[in-house]
Amino acid sequence: MIDNTSDRPTQEITLTVNGNEITEEVEPRHKLSDFLRYRADSTDVRVGCEHGACGACTVEVDGKNVKSCMLFAVQADGSDVLTSTGLNEDDGLGPIQEAFHENHALQCGFCTSGFIMATKELLEKNPDPDREEIVDGLSDNICRCTGYVNIIKAVEDAADRMDTVSQATGDD
Ligand code: FES
Ligand code: FES
Repeated sequence: MIDNTSDRPTQEITLTVNGNEITEEVEPRHKLSDFLRYRADSTDVRVGCEHGACGACTVEVDGKNVKSCMLFAVQADGSDVLTSTGLNEDDGLGPIQEAFHENHALQCGFCTSGFIMATKELLEKNPDPDREEIVDGLSDNICRCTGYVNIIKAVEDAADRMDTVSQATGDD
């Protein structure tokens, strides 16, 4: 949680979050995960363990996935941040989000945005992963509800959907 009531020193930082530039004063101790939730309205970023173990807070910073609870906001100054909401398309959900929805790959949903970002990274590196590669690619993320079966199905479905999109656009 970021509060504005302390008189500790602050530093001005500017981040671009899902395409929106945000400039805010933060204390050096403030985590990127809290900045995203409380200063950038990105409440899709979930904070579970706060020590890099659960993956719920996963976001992309300058094109690479990070656990945002493990980074101070000041370390991300000047960065381009993408959260799962940033994967929305003009007409609704993007293919990964749609695949999670259609395959019932969530129950409470707490872990879902982290899994979606992990899936994005996995499919960018390996557009057609087998089951073992999916399990390995998602190994930084924990789900307490689903038992993972439907999450794996969702990733397979997302790979198919993205393949269809790239074939349609000739974007291979
Ligand atoms: S909240 Fe960041 S990894 Fe768990
Ligand atoms: S759906 Fe509840 S923790 Fe994953």
